[in-house]
Amino acid sequence: MCGIVGYIGNKKAAPILLAGLSKLEYRGYDSAGLAIIENEKIVVEKDKGRVKNLYNIKAIEELNGTIGIAHTRWATHGVPSKENAHPHIDNSGNFAVVHNGIIENYSELRTFLEANDYKFISATDTEVIPNLIHYFYTKDIKEDEYRLLRAVKSTADKLIGSFAIEVISKNEPNNMIVVRKDSPLVIGKGYGESYIASDIPAILSYTKDFYLLENLEFVLLDRDKIRFFDNDLKEFEKKPTTITWNAMAADKNGYEDYMLKEIYEQPRAIRETIGTRIEDNACKFDELNFSKEYLSNIKQIYIVACGTAMHAGITAKNAIENLCKIHTEVEVASEFRYTNQLIDENTLCIFISQSGETADTIAALKLSKMKKAKTIAITNVIGSSITREADYSLYTHAGPEIAVASTKAYTSQITLLILLAIYFAEVLNSESEDILQKLIKELCSLPNKVEKVLEEADKVKEIAKKLYKEKDIFYIGRGIDYATAQEASLKLKEISYIHSESYAAGELKHGPIALIEKGINEIGIITDESLVKKSISNMEEIITREALTTLVVSDDIVPNIDTNQFTNVIIVPSTEVFVSPIITIVPLQLLAYYISKEKGLDVDKPRNLAKSVTVE
Ligand code: M6R
Repeated sequence: MCGIVGYIGNKKAAPILLAGLSKLEYRGYDSAGLAIIENEKIVVEKDKGRVKNLYNIKAIEELNGTIGIAHTRWATHGVPSKENAHPHIDNSGNFAVVHNGIIENYSELRTFLEANDYKFISATDTEVIPNLIHYFYTKDIKEDEYRLLRAVKSTADKLIGSFAIEVISKNEPNNMIVVRKDSPLVIGKGYGESYIASDIPAILSYTKDFYLLENLEFVLLDRDKIRFFDNDLKEFEKKPTTITWNAMAADKNGYEDYMLKEIYEQPRAIRETIGTRIEDNACKFDELNFSKEYLSNIKQIYIVACGTAMHAGITAKNAIENLCKIHTEVEVASEFRYTNQLIDENTLCIFISQSGETADTIAALKLSKMKKAKTIAITNVIGSSITREADYSLYTHAGPEIAVASTKAYTSQITLLILLAIYFAEVLNSESEDILQKLIKELCSLPNKVEKVLEEADKVKEIAKKLYKEKDIFYIGRGIDYATAQEASLKLKEISYIHSESYAAGELKHGPIALIEKGINEIGIITDESLVKKSISNMEEIITREALTTLVVSDDIVPNIDTNQFTNVIIVPSTEVFVSPIITIVPLQLLAYYISKEKGLDVDKPRNLAKSVTVE
């Protein structure tokens, strides 16, 4: 869950590395550093804290070297400190390495190296890597252009776990070696220069042509060439992929924070996700093209994901079961792996991951494949690890999501899942044409409805001003609104650090109501007409106990209820129940955002969190 950047070319490397790191800070931000080859020596500068600290290091400004590697860290082994920050160098000072991932067998490797007189300065798992490279490099007697490559390959052979690594060496000052296994790494191709990064947005302003590295592909770079080698070190040709996002998509573009920008991008993201998947009032998925016979063999569906992506799954479960008549379970990926799920070749497992790199989700996918289930990955990142594992991959087209708190990815994931449910129902002929047509029409109207909600942002901001000092906030809802409550509560806690819980409204009286007392704040969501009466009574039970209530309600319900009894009311446009969370979540994302701002917190980089969770 760290970010790495590299540059090899003719420009000064330091500014490029720092700019790249700043864009990757969402992956981790407890320490940062860089190593540059300067006058045939390796210069390492690093510090605890954010990337901006590196901008204040005078020595970095003075570096003219044109080959370098850099890292922003999310600590796993060893506390955030200067010693534990990357890059790490070997004992001889000849090899520098940055690493994203976890070396699971690092303590055995460390013992081995210590027995060979290597000393360690840091508490990291990474420090074994440069020392192993030194070990193999010095043992190699062939002095040809592949010597460093061979040393990195021998090192990679010893590593158990996940890694994306960049290596530079004083001995080969015009080269860089990179390799990945289960941690992301891309190479951007320029003219006489190459850019390396954990993800595309970090280097999107320099190039649109990217090589998306597969596991255990080794790359030997010099200024003019990018050469690819397989795990037997046989050279092969690789084709670049051209990315159509523009650099602005990965910038703040005038917004104060990425999260706010991404909230406002939702209408566009939903439109793009629908894209060409609706044609002649029907859903089509060219990537799938399933036959009726194929789908009829599916007896159950599992949706597996983490965090917000899992909430998207919970939201879509109802639609899938109702439209397709297939029993559907939603599981947290980290639990799915350790419970003996009854899945087989008649099970379809859908894995959702914005980043496509979440370790738990990918591990669950691999497990399902072993059990012969059919697998679909839903992700936002082209070429991400999950797409290489799944039988089928569907992209959400939400554009890069940088803020740690997921917003547009969530609404795009629900959009895609609903499209998928409609598509399955069409193929299976399991739902009436009328209902499917209505839903398609509603899906297409969502972007405009979300725009309407965004126009009311100032009202939400006012409510945030009343709530930001709270210690606890509860969210309740029934049915589909409970699904939204869960996501709203996660959003609030992760960026405002306010304790928050979500409950199915009917469950309150089975325990949680004991927490309700005078002055406690509770947010209720009501968008399902069929549940209005019951939901209102649950809110009244809270009001009776002198709690303060904020009601999020769809406009068609307003005439049937007395809104005066609530402390705050947020009215959203009504829609079909299955897709209502796409609208209802928006004011609640804004509420979490404005509460975090009122508290003066770093909205985009909440404490202890990283965007891409590549550790289990
Ligand atoms: O990249 P993924 O969608 O697999 O990430 C899953 C979760 O880590 C993620 O949704 C997390 O819960 C977000 N920070 C929530 O805003």
